Amino acid sequence: MKTAFITGITGQDGSYLAEHLLNLGYKVVAMMRRSATPDTSRFAHIEDRLTICHGDLLDQSSLMRLLAEYKPDEIYNLAAQSFVHASFHEPIHTSEVTGLGVMRMLEAVRLQAPEARFYQASSSEMFGDVFETPQRETTPFHPRSPYGVAKVYGHFATVNYRESYDMFACSGILFNHESPRRGLEFVTRKISDHVAAIAFGETNQLALGNLDARRDWGFAGDYVRGMHLMLQHATADDYVLSTGTTQSVREFCRIAFAHVGLNYEDYVVVNPKFFRPAEVELLLGDSSKAKNVLGWVPEIDFQGLVEMMVDADLKRRLVMGNRPTRGSLPEGLV
Ligand code: NAP
Ligand code: GDD
Repeated sequence: MKTAFITGITGQDGSYLAEHLLNLGYKVVAMMRRSATPDTSRFAHIEDRLTICHGDLLDQSSLMRLLAEYKPDEIYNLAAQSFVHASFHEPIHTSEVTGLGVMRMLEAVRLQAPEARFYQASSSEMFGDVFETPQRETTPFHPRSPYGVAKVYGHFATVNYRESYDMFACSGILFNHESPRRGLEFVTRKISDHVAAIAFGETNQLALGNLDARRDWGFAGDYVRGMHLMLQHATADDYVLSTGTTQSVREFCRIAFAHVGLNYEDYVVVNPKFFRPAEVELLLGDSSKAKNVLGWVPEIDFQGLVEMMVDADLKRRLVMGNRPTRGSLPEGLV
């Protein structure tokens, strides 16, 4: 039985990846950091099948100790301070975790598990003020936030360890991927949760920032399959994962509100407090390398993703016995 080691298990991707690897028969060792109020809700349904351990990307010794103890075959470094907006307020912390944290992981792998295959969670935010559209593996980076800068550092650290030490280290350049388990501060989940809250009469308004920003949004469950495929290939490399379509925040709102029979223009207001000091205006990925080399293709389309997220936030309220007061429930939920 192969052992996989995942950092970031409490996050969105950690839970989907752990599910996927358990289904493939892996022993999954999952790292979380110490917290006074640990949140295990995203993986509670599989917790009894995981080996949970404690470590922190800020603490080199904890990473060394865990890799020496578990000697994993595959290592997925998903942990990060991943919220772009917060990275403008906490640039040093973001650099420490999201940037230098990758170097700490790579050093731990080099010294304690050099034969392990390593996956680094890189990001389309590295493209930032894009040089070309669509963006692919060869597109130059121009990050627009402390988060993006830290991810570029982590990306090149991964490439450098592959070239310097012949380590099997891959960087997955993933475009935005979402799900009902997405954090509430990210725009897609903020919208889906507010659509449900508005339908149930809990609030009357959704305050957002830049409605014209465009993203290439896919489903997280599809993207974790791609992470695993990268580590199964004969050689280590870097891959873009994306859907190849791009939509605006406004379009996300339009579909999400329409799904419950409402018009987004009646509820959405713009509040400049959600603007960023520098914005990434457009992301659109070309994942043909992942398709041709790994056989990876996403299955859930944009409309399906929006409806899945809104349905989940509606269901959460329905199971609590609440009833909607506005709009109409989608057919499957009536
Ligand atoms: P997420 O939900 O924000 O999860 C981040 C995880 O990192 C959480 O488990 C968090 O733990 C953990 N973490 C934060 N600081 C840590 C530290 N010092 N030590 C150990 N763990 C720490 O992010 P996600 O959406 O699942 O994304 C997974 C990875 O992919 C991230 O690296 C993200 O930057 C990258 N990525 C995401 C996307 C996307 O669209 N989702 C796209 C490209 C790249 P706590 O719960 O304790 O905070
Ligand atoms: N969060 C948020 N909240 N974003 C808003 C809002 C709002 O109220 N209003 C408009 N937006 C716009 C942001 O300005 C941005 O252009 C876009 O919506 C998406 O924002 P987020 O959902 O916060 O995601 P992100 O694209 O900045 O970053 C996510 O994707 C990256 C991959 O491209 C994160 O998951 C990163 O960790 C990931 O690397």
